[in-house]
Amino acid sequence: MQIAIDGPVGAGKSTIAKECARRLGIVYMDTGALYRAVGVWCSENSIDAYNEEAVTSVLPKISPEIKLFDGVQRVIINGDDITDRIRTPEASMLASKVSSYGSVRAFLLDLQRDFAAKNSVVMDGRDIGTVILPNADVKIFLSADSKERARRRYEELLNKGADVKFDDVLADLEKRDAADSSRACAPLKQADDAILADTTGNTFEQSVELIMSIIQNKT
Ligand code: DC
Repeated sequence: MQIAIDGPVGAGKSTIAKECARRLGIVYMDTGALYRAVGVWCSENSIDAYNEEAVTSVLPKISPEIKLFDGVQRVIINGDDITDRIRTPEASMLASKVSSYGSVRAFLLDLQRDFAAKNSVVMDGRDIGTVILPNADVKIFLSADSKERARRRYEELLNKGADVKFDDVLADLEKRDAADSSRACAPLKQADDAILADTTGNTFEQSVELIMSIIQNKT
């Protein structure tokens, strides 16, 4: 079974997709982690992530892998588990930048498709329903009002002990959504056959119920 969940920053894709995968007894894959890992790897290896040519030329030296430990996804690059270093605001912007390069998207395509071929999966990202899994059994476009998404992201960062301001989180989120939606290659957009799920005002449980009911109706 392949379930594609796309949507903008902070729509709750990862937490909702993870819980739906758990209830369905299938695997969850967070594809944003791959772009984050490439961006962070570049930054840690003195490659300018804002220079497309520099990033493209270094790709042959990078071997990203997705591994599951007790069902939890880890991203490994060249043997180094980078998972704990990819959740910072800086990593978000690096991921958004490198994900706009066609070379990076082509580089990560097979890894994502192979994973979905080997596992029944709930996969979240920006182009899963449009590009990665065009024949997915269920496609959902998850969204919510941008202030509410920023509030959720802000609280998540505060809980992790980050020193952030709400206005900065909102500005970053809007900047990232604009970049992700306007890029030439595989932009964030709702697939023609995706179902729109707006979670504005929902509790987490209500959102999970909404997505589970869409999945159950479709399968
Ligand atoms: O889902 P996320 O916030 O971890 O994603 C980080 C960035 O990666 C996001 O700004 C856009 C990019 N991305 C993408 O282009 N395609 C995907 N399938 C997943 C993420």
